[in-house]
Amino acid sequence: MSNSKPIGFFDSGVGGTSIWKEVMQLLPRENSIYLSDSKNAPYGEKPIEEIIALSKKNTEKLIAMGCKIIVVACNTATTNAIRILRDTYPLPIIGIEPAIKPAALNSRTKSIGILATKGTLSSKLFSKTSELYSEDINIIEVVGNGLVRLIEQGKQNSAEIKELLFELLKPMLDAKIDYLVLGCSHYPYLVPVLKEILPAEVTIIDSGEAVARQTKKVLLEHELMNNEDHKPKHLLFSNADSKVLAKLVAAEENNLEVSYLDF
Ligand code: DGL
Repeated sequence: MSNSKPIGFFDSGVGGTSIWKEVMQLLPRENSIYLSDSKNAPYGEKPIEEIIALSKKNTEKLIAMGCKIIVVACNTATTNAIRILRDTYPLPIIGIEPAIKPAALNSRTKSIGILATKGTLSSKLFSKTSELYSEDINIIEVVGNGLVRLIEQGKQNSAEIKELLFELLKPMLDAKIDYLVLGCSHYPYLVPVLKEILPAEVTIIDSGEAVARQTKKVLLEHELMNNEDHKPKHLLFSNADSKVLAKLVAAEENNLEVSYLDF
């Protein structure tokens, strides 16, 4: 059985395209719709009730647009709202969480850093996972204050963001971390700058590949894979200025459309 309906993605902004790229690379026959809720970014500083309400709004829009599954391409929305989304809507919903496990299991210095939003680090779901490892591992949690705003403005390679990262990473460097976990889907766009700042022995990890594998697994389980031999279509929408979104994905594919949508 084949299913040509699109996979739906949403994030508080442009960052979730880092996840979208991983999924599309693993599943090249799938059509997709991506919602960048940039008008409401960042989610990370909002109260939990608001994060839940925004996550529901985005999910309902994707369902109305005919999506067969939803990928919540946002750690903040996943850690605060995924249970409610799964309880409310009938389709499979995949989430993204900081990859603490591989970092904790492989760390030699027994010291790892997590860079994420306030909303993610203060969530119950995140605390439950980090508690599993905090007995043996020193976990340095840092809120990436200001990073999402700059990435939303397309400033991921700016001197301003580099300066900010120097400050944010200081406690991690002092603690001799050997793994840095990127706990926000915007942050993979910081990797070039992070590599300039961090010592070579620090491994940077994110959850993109794991989400892509999980998406494939769920599609197979539900017999929702698109097996058509075709050039898939990707529709990406921003409810703010769509230029930054267009720039981030432009190099990836030529069969995609990026436009403004009020949602
Ligand atoms: N990209 C998001 C995440 O993964 C949200 C960041 C934000 O809006 O604060 O957490």
